[in-house]
Formats: sequence, C-alpha cells, structure tokens
Amino acid sequence: MRKLRSVIVGATGLAGQQFIAALERHPFFEVAAVAASSRSAGKTYAEALRTPSGMMGWFLSEPLPGAVASMKVLDGAEVSGRDFELAFSAVEADVARELEPRLAKDVPVISTASAFRYEEDVPLLIPPVNAGHAPLIEEQRRRRGSKGFILPIPNCTTTGLAVTLAPLEQAFGVQAVMMTSLQACSGAGRSPGVIGLDILDNVIPHIAKEEGKVEVETKKILGSMGKGSVLPHPMKVSCTCTRVAVLEGHTEAAFVSLKSRASVAEVAAAMREWKGAEAARGLPSSPARWIEVQDDPFRPQPRLDRDAHGGMATSVGRIREDGVLENGVKYVLVSHNTKMGAAKGAVLVAELLRAQGVL
Ligand SMILES: NC(=O)c1ccc[n+]([C@@H]2O[C@H](COP(=O)([O-])OP(=O)(O)OC[C@H]3O[C@@H](n4cnc5c(N)ncnc54)[C@H](OP(=O)(O)O)[C@@H]3O)[C@@H](O)[C@H]2O)c1
Repeated sequence: MRKLRSVIVGATGLAGQQFIAALERHPFFEVAAVAASSRSAGKTYAEALRTPSGMMGWFLSEPLPGAVASMKVLDGAEVSGRDFELAFSAVEADVARELEPRLAKDVPVISTASAFRYEEDVPLLIPPVNAGHAPLIEEQRRRRGSKGFILPIPNCTTTGLAVTLAPLEQAFGVQAVMMTSLQACSGAGRSPGVIGLDILDNVIPHIAKEEGKVEVETKKILGSMGKGSVLPHPMKVSCTCTRVAVLEGHTEAAFVSLKSRASVAEVAAAMREWKGAEAARGLPSSPARWIEVQDDPFRPQPRLDRDAHGGMATSVGRIREDGVLENGVKYVLVSHNTKMGAAKGAVLVAELLRAQGVL
C-alpha cells in the first residue's frame, strides 16, 4: 500500500513526539513534514526541542528518528493542506480552532485537540468501541463543503473509561458511572505543563475543564448513530479528576451501575473476552487485547501496566461488587495517556479510515 504523505502539527510537544514514534516505519503513513509554533519554525526538529536550559527535550524512551531530527520545522500558521495527504494535529484547542478548519478544506485532519469534539457532525472515535460512527465524516464533508474533515480523538481520561464501559454496556447495559482519576503529569503537556515543585509530594485536586469533557465525551462515544449526528447514551456520568506525581499513565477508580446484575466473575469475563469492533481488529496499531484484566489486587499500576500491548491496552484490576449503586460494580483501570489516549490512538483512527478506504 502506498504511504500517505503526512504532516504533524504540534510535533515538538508531548503528543507530537508520540506521533513521530508511532509513525516511524509505519506501513500506511510517512512523516513528510513537522510543524509547530513560530518559536520553533525554521529550526531543525532537534534544535527546536532544546529547552531553555539547553537540555534536549525529547521525552520518549524510543530514539528520535534521525530523518525527523534533521527536518526543518514549519510554522503551523503557514502549513498548507494542499501539500499533504493527511494532517495529524497535536496543538492546544485554541490553536486548533483556527488551524484545523483551514487544513481540513483540503486534507483530512486527525486531531488530539478538543476544539471540535462536541460539534454535531464530528464523530469521536475509539475504533474498537464505536467504529460505526465513522460515516458521520461524510456528513461533515457535505455540510462544510470541504475536501478534508476534522476528526478528533477523545480526551485521554475518557478513553480508558469508555474502553472498559463498552463490554459492560454490551453485556449488561450501563445506567451510571462515577469515576475518580489520578492523572499523569504528561497529560498536561509541556506548554506550560506541570511544574515539578507543585506536583512532587502532592495531589492536585482540579484539572481545568477535564471533568466536563469526560462526562460529555463518554456519552457521545457510547451513543448511537442518529440522522446526521450521534445520539448520546443516556447513562449518567460523574467524575473527579486529579493530577498526581506520575509521569505517564492515567489511573481511574470507576464505580458503575449496571442495568442488569452481574457477578465479579461475569464482569471480568465480559472485559477479558471483549474483542471490540470487527473493523478495528488487525490494524497495525491494534493490540492483541484491548483490555488486560489483572487478578493481582496490587495491579494495575501505572509504572507496570501503562505500556501493556505497546500502550494500546487498558489494564483493569480490583473488580469488586459495589453495595451502594444499583447492580453496582467497581474497578481500577490504567490507560496510557500519550499513546492510546493521544498519538497512537489517533494513528489507530487513521489506520481504520485507511483500511475502510476513506483515506
Ligand atoms: N499530553 C497528553 O497526554 C494528551 C492526551 C490527549 C490529548 N492531548 C491534547 O493534545 C494536544 C497537544 O498536547 P501536548 O500535551 O502535546 O501539548 P504540548 O506538549 O504543550 O505541545 C504543544 C504543541 O503545540 C505547538 N504549538 C503551540 N502553538 C502553536 C501554534 N500557534 N501553531 C502550531 N503549533 C503550535 C507547540 O510548539 P512549540 O514547541 O513551538 O511551542 C507544541 O509542539 C492538546 O490539545 C492536548 O489537549 C494531550
């Protein structure tokens, strides 16, 4: 299959770096250019990564590919969609709001930013959960008269929750979910990011706008396709999002009220046996299992479990009955926020569309 010439915008940030790693030797896509703010434009990618102290700000354990290190960084404001076949966007929402529609006039834009997640003609795809929402893209193209489209992935905290709710919804139905997150520092990115002095020896009990995103997005992802929009799932969602001194991997304690009663063994089996949507199986970034259920009561832990199946599987443990909610069950999950929750999750969406002939 011919590789699509892709540009990564926001390539110097944490999600952008994960895009570079995810696209290294990718069978469907090649990194033809990298772009960032005017601060980085004109420098080589390696130079642009230098922090003010002179340190190389490459964040990943995977090596920085030499071909990307020497690329000249483009100014995001000057990137033209006509020069590429696909754009991956990893910029903050305020930048995305202007940049993504401009690129989408000419080229599909797969984004980690929240700017367009809540618009009616925009699906919010997690391929194993709701690949069936993808046709909404054609509605978006039609309504906006553009050659491309904007396809954001969900918020990184929503992803692990939605992946674990999907098999529960399928097997038992879900009435309500309450969740408390313990989110990694990398989730805040680098600009300005979380300051070490604030987070070390600490838990920060508020992440701006995060709880609202999880509540709305979970219902949209698990919703059903209506005419020209997604009808949100009627489940109730309530959450508290906190930041903890963990580098990567969001931990979440979920309490779920099911429609029909299920034992701990039945819940574990539903998650273990869940294969996800047929369309998402066998894609280059699809893991062998979307959910890894742990029996050890001391798992999942972010350090041990965030990289399960290349950071693409959600690890679940501590499944117990809950005596407060109706048909209640509770568990702990860990999901990789910059891999499945950001760049690799977005590349997975692009793979789904490539396999379906949309790209
Ligand atoms: N981090 C996560 O776990 C995660 C997970 C899911 C979704 N997301 C979303 O992904 C996006 C990026 O997050 P991040 O964590 O990677 O942030 P980040 O580390 O702060 O990176 C931001 C990137 O945006 C670039 N940028 C800033 N202003 C720009 C402009 N005007 N034009 C073009 N590029 C510009 C920056 O370039 P310079 O280096 O030149 O400043 C940098 O490459 C956000 O929307 C975030 O909500 C992040």
